[in-house]
Amino acid sequence: MGVNPGIELIDKNGKRTDGRKVDEVRPIHIEAGVLHRADGSAYLEWGNNKVMAAVYGPREFNPRRFQKADKCVVRCKYNMAAFSTSDRKRPGPDRRSQEISKVIADAFENVVLTEKWPRGVIDINMEILQADAGTRIAALTAAAVALADAGIPMKGMVAGCATGKVDGKLCVDLNGPEDNYGESDLPVAVNMTTGEIVLLQMDGHLTGREFEKALDMTVKACDQVYQAQRDALERRFTAKLDELEKDTPAPRRGKQQEAKEVVEAEVA
Ligand code: CDP
Repeated sequence: MGVNPGIELIDKNGKRTDGRKVDEVRPIHIEAGVLHRADGSAYLEWGNNKVMAAVYGPREFNPRRFQKADKCVVRCKYNMAAFSTSDRKRPGPDRRSQEISKVIADAFENVVLTEKWPRGVIDINMEILQADAGTRIAALTAAAVALADAGIPMKGMVAGCATGKVDGKLCVDLNGPEDNYGESDLPVAVNMTTGEIVLLQMDGHLTGREFEKALDMTVKACDQVYQAQRDALERRFTAKLDELEKDTPAPRRGKQQEAKEVVEAEVA
């Protein structure tokens, strides 16, 4: 949210800098199971954002002093690659990445059935390879697919989107210029099964009425994100099934089939 140097963010036809309408989400494509060393993974492209997410675990949490006796800990690491932004980003953790890692971990603590693995840990790593606004939600969206790919039971799939105010108008899924020069940004993530909001942050200002409308728009936008997640998982598990079928030996011939073949041979 900075001072607009005079860029027209919404034209007189209501179109945004990338030609979208105010309630339009950028194109999303997700591939699940892209990393073979991780227990679960996903690669996501959302507009110009490119994100890789990898999940490890659940496994025993060491050192043991960090263990929780009644549940497993969900540990998240969000990182922006040095080459992900137009100005080279200083590598390594900073306050922003620590904050984002924490809010994403809190969101997943609410949906993963953590009580199934007392004293364990699930590690979620999210690498932003290319950033163009909305990366925390893009990272969380990829991580949710990676968790499902790892077979980790959850109360529901988590999808998110960020809505903001640009040139006085509410717009879903802000792009780079809108995020930089808009008036507010409201990233939200929802458990799509229960409808619970598991992440909500706000940058800038909105009136109470705008806030309610922005939330409504975000929840609607989440449906599109959820669809992309479902498509990715469907493709992933159909491919897995095909692989399994290929590797499974043909079923043994039953006694009936053997008898039928003997009779047929004798008649011939
Ligand atoms: O990415 P998100 O909107 O969740 O978080 P933000 O803190 O509002 O950052 C907005 C955008 O600013 C990012 O998506 C990046 O495109 C950009 N950014 C950057 O270029 N360099 C940074 N060190 C941090 C953010």
